[in-house]
Amino acid sequence: MMSLRWQDAEPGDYAVIGNPIDHSKSPQIHQAAYQFHSLPLTYERFCVPLEEFSLALLHLTGLGYKGLNVTLPLKEAAFKWCKVVSPEAEAVGVLNTVNLLTKEGINTDIPAFISTLNQEGIPQGAPLMILGAGGSAQALILSLAKEGYTVSAWNRTKSRLDQLADASPFPFTVLDDPVPPPGVACIVNATSASLAGESLPLDWDSLSSDVLAYDLAYGKPLPFLESASDRGLKTRDGRQMLVEQGALAFEWWLGKLAPRSDMLKATYEHPGTHS
Ligand code: ATR
Repeated sequence: MMSLRWQDAEPGDYAVIGNPIDHSKSPQIHQAAYQFHSLPLTYERFCVPLEEFSLALLHLTGLGYKGLNVTLPLKEAAFKWCKVVSPEAEAVGVLNTVNLLTKEGINTDIPAFISTLNQEGIPQGAPLMILGAGGSAQALILSLAKEGYTVSAWNRTKSRLDQLADASPFPFTVLDDPVPPPGVACIVNATSASLAGESLPLDWDSLSSDVLAYDLAYGKPLPFLESASDRGLKTRDGRQMLVEQGALAFEWWLGKLAPRSDMLKATYEHPGTHS
């Protein structure tokens, strides 16, 4: 499937926007759900540079679009554009799902992440270690701290986390070194190191095999998860979280149960297999 410039959009129903957007699997995921429910809806993808955000939303609304998923670097702009936002979005100042007609916005990334933690049997309040300080890491740290998890965070450039901690109403610990705190249940790689094929200087020695190593990336060999599984840890990549955030968006827009296993299957298909 080709991704279009928003200026070239034709009338449609739903879409994902971002920049870049070529690798988004959201069209496959949502189209699988439309197929399952026999819904005559379209789901497209459009490249939207940050400075064209408001103009693009106005244009797509005029073409009949009802909702958008929003990815990097537009999640903060989407938060500011919405008139009503969910508590999860409010806590982190970014969101990924917009209703164009009501100007409501929700963040489905965070409930999706927590739902996958629950699937792994990691209870609310458990000690978690988050690696990174970029957009995804910041949203996770704040929302998990808000939800009552015991959050420790490490980043190569510590000052980014110190700044976040100073501004955060939800307390979390900033680690000086990449050494997991005792009793940690899950270590989340929210850095971009895996995607670049780089490994992280994590101290693995203290970790027992019931610790979950969770990488938000997916779709290629991830050095972080390879190191974890070499040491006998449980591992999980970001594919199910991706499906869950899409499922929650689908359910919010359409009020129908999302067919998660069909949506998961669709993430393994190459773009272009749906017309
Ligand atoms: P985004 O907002 O997309 O999450 P970002 O702001 O570019 O991305 O952040 C990338 C994150 O990955 C940062 O936390 C970065 O660490 P620095 O803040 O020190 O730059 C981290 N990162 C990237 N490559 C890394 C590597 N090889 N080792 C450790 N951390 C790395």
